[in-house]
Amino acid sequence: MCGIVAYLGNKQALPLILSGLRKLEYRGYDSAGVALMFDNEIVVRKTAGKVSDLEALLGSNGYDKDANIGFGHTRWATHGEPNDTNAHPVFDDNNEIVVIHNGIIENYKVLKTRLEREGYQFRTDTDTECLVHLIRSHYKNVMDFETAVRLALAEVDGTYGMCVLSKFEPDKIIAARRGSPLVLGVGEDEYIIASDATAIIPHTRQVLYLLDGEMVIVTRNKFEIKTIHDEKIERELEVITFDLEEIEKGGYEHFMLKEINEQPDSITNTMRGRIIKDNGLVKLGGLINVTEKLKYAPRIIISACGTAWHAGLVGEYMIEQMCKIPVEVEYASEFRYRNPVLYPNDIMFVISQSGETADTLAALKEAKSRGADVYGIVNVVGSTIARETHAGVYTHAGPEIGVASTKAFTSQLTGLALISLMIAQYRNSLPHDEIKKITDELLRIPDKIKQILALNDQILEIARIFKFCQHMLYLGRGYNFPVALEGALKLKEISYIHAEGYPAAEMKHGPIALIDQNMPVIFIAPKDSTYEKIISNIREVKARKGVVITITDFDSDGPSEEYSDYIIKIPHTLEMLSPILTTIPLQMFAYHLAVLRGCNVDQPRNLAKSVTVE
Ligand code: F6R
Repeated sequence: MCGIVAYLGNKQALPLILSGLRKLEYRGYDSAGVALMFDNEIVVRKTAGKVSDLEALLGSNGYDKDANIGFGHTRWATHGEPNDTNAHPVFDDNNEIVVIHNGIIENYKVLKTRLEREGYQFRTDTDTECLVHLIRSHYKNVMDFETAVRLALAEVDGTYGMCVLSKFEPDKIIAARRGSPLVLGVGEDEYIIASDATAIIPHTRQVLYLLDGEMVIVTRNKFEIKTIHDEKIERELEVITFDLEEIEKGGYEHFMLKEINEQPDSITNTMRGRIIKDNGLVKLGGLINVTEKLKYAPRIIISACGTAWHAGLVGEYMIEQMCKIPVEVEYASEFRYRNPVLYPNDIMFVISQSGETADTLAALKEAKSRGADVYGIVNVVGSTIARETHAGVYTHAGPEIGVASTKAFTSQLTGLALISLMIAQYRNSLPHDEIKKITDELLRIPDKIKQILALNDQILEIARIFKFCQHMLYLGRGYNFPVALEGALKLKEISYIHAEGYPAAEMKHGPIALIDQNMPVIFIAPKDSTYEKIISNIREVKARKGVVITITDFDSDGPSEEYSDYIIKIPHTLEMLSPILTTIPLQMFAYHLAVLRGCNVDQPRNLAKSVTVE
């Protein structure tokens, strides 16, 4: 949801800002702009389109010559359509103060009416413009840049990660956060502020994560952290541990393809040090302090959005089966607004790759405010959700840049398997040898994924056949019903083919009406407890001339082969772990289909990686 990069130092700011924006483009890519401070004049250049369009606009006009202070923005539109005018940075009336903003100003209408009455003219349709006029309006009274920003922020409802520059104090950048992430990088005689650390690590590994309600005032050779109420904050710098290669494509054509192929490693990293070698039991350091709570939890609620919600559905099957605790899986966006009933000792798990998803964060806060303990399953270390939860488990999948989530999902599933096993240990709800059998198999999963990745050419050929299809149905049962939802989501978000996921047996209650020779149906049918049933569903589709693609395992032959038009055979695993494997061919299929259709798989239209608005 919008990427922000700001620079103050001795180097040329523009190339640095542009390279940071390219790294943050996954957060939004409908328009882009920069503001540079030149000898007391602020120059803004902005355009609809991607960072590459901004670069084309800047051309060789020499903007990179002198300025060593400035900032840039890559936008995911909330207020106002994505055009040149609404792109950020946004100026005040006199082009003396300029703002970039990620988030939503909820009371912008009230503020706008008041500011228009005061004589300010609005030139964009953005909510951000109130912020810059508001700062200007306070500046007129207090004649101090920092105080003006503080007073303006105090009047704003909603969320922001924002940076502001002013001609009046040209050697200063002020940034503030509420609800939208900001990180300060501290280098040698230079500072970089960005929406996430990926734009910072080429320059420094020393960072400070701003918390909600905090602002940073950066001047030459100095930075200060304060609350927006002017209280000083002292906090140690943190050191980023991931490497630059992890956020680069490493020879792959797309981040998504790289991340699909990384899954043997990302899953290994999720498990690293968590399965005790000698006895096969599970130990999760991040949950050790809440052992008793987990052991006696009367109910577990899992809340998340999108792909992470699908992981939660698989988690429901795992926890109920292994721990015998009732589980409810909630869309985070619904949980918050429906006055949920929480019992004493209920536990909530929130799942999030980015750790910044606004809806998930709101659900977390809602549960906390009602007295529940909330634990995280989060990928991005130090993210807001990771900080807000009482305890939790990092998935350690590494940075995920492709907008469509792939390796984060399989690491979430792996994390959920580990959590379920650990709770089962505490509760004695599963015999030790059963737990060991599962952890032994978990350790074999990375190799099995490698075998699936080797099916690339076959999956590409199947994708070619369906290049022009318009609809697709994904059906699965039990543990693989959520995989059907996830497969359909992957396809629609990157190839724009309409796809639906359903529990296979539900097909006859409605969707079967759609089946004909133009409706390809993907069945996820490994040989598990529902195999025979799902074969009947395959037959039902074939009887209506549907085209069937089946994902099954090596062990199953016969019926699935007989009734399928195309079959993708993957290694066999335990039923509860099968979603980790069955997901992979669906990711590969969606990827190839999208590439064949000429879609931008890493930056699908209308989407952004980290959804920090509600
Ligand atoms: C789909 C996808 C989204 C995210 C969702 C939650 O491929 O990536 O559906 O899963 O926006 O994001 P996180 O996990 O960052 O909270």
